[in-house]
Amino acid sequence: MLTITYHSHSCFTITSDKVKILTDPFIKGNPLAKIKPSDLKPDLILVSHGHGDHVGDTVEIAKRSKCRVIAPYELIVFLQREGVPADNCHAMHIGGSYNFDFGRIKLTPALHGSAFVSDKGTIYTGNPCGYLITLEGQTIYFAGDTGLSSDMKLTGENNKIKAALLPIGGNFTMDIEDAVKASDLLDCEIAIPMHYNTFDVIKQDPYMLIKALEDGKHRTKGVVVGIEETFILE
Ligand code: NI
Ligand code: MN
Repeated sequence: MLTITYHSHSCFTITSDKVKILTDPFIKGNPLAKIKPSDLKPDLILVSHGHGDHVGDTVEIAKRSKCRVIAPYELIVFLQREGVPADNCHAMHIGGSYNFDFGRIKLTPALHGSAFVSDKGTIYTGNPCGYLITLEGQTIYFAGDTGLSSDMKLTGENNKIKAALLPIGGNFTMDIEDAVKASDLLDCEIAIPMHYNTFDVIKQDPYMLIKALEDGKHRTKGVVVGIEETFILE
């Protein structure tokens, strides 16, 4: 049985019997977060790109929990320099997949930027990505930050996607209208919205996605997972 717990923004915990995976752990400085980084003890962190609202607390959590971290090559080099132990870093890149002991991870393209920007400067962290996460024979697509892309059609054709975690906030990523189109292209059974309401510019009503998918023209069912709520993937 797989479970998906939402921690707000693009941060989820996805669990199977074998593994606890954390995505883009932006907790500190996240106005919607109800937990502390120290509450999270994952086996693996997936980071989609170098922006602060996605790298978030990766280094702190990874150091404490001694978990594995997967990210595109340039980003993993950055995270290693920031203090993630080298032995726990696994570099991958877009289009690449790898069979781990717990399941399979594949990186997908994302239409976005990727740099770590701080008062010290701007550090290039490669290309942004999404993740196809296959556990217990079920595939979850975590889109990362991305605009709508026709690549999603290929991702849908080549993978039987059970659940897609899709940004809906607009401004930096897809909005609800584009997330509906993405659900069609991905041909996913379930769409779960993310990356909304954290900041004023990405304010959205996630139930509008559910409503838009209910007009009888779509195979996908929308599911809003509230903050610190858990959805069970049957
Ligand atoms: Ni971003
Ligand atoms: Mn973002």
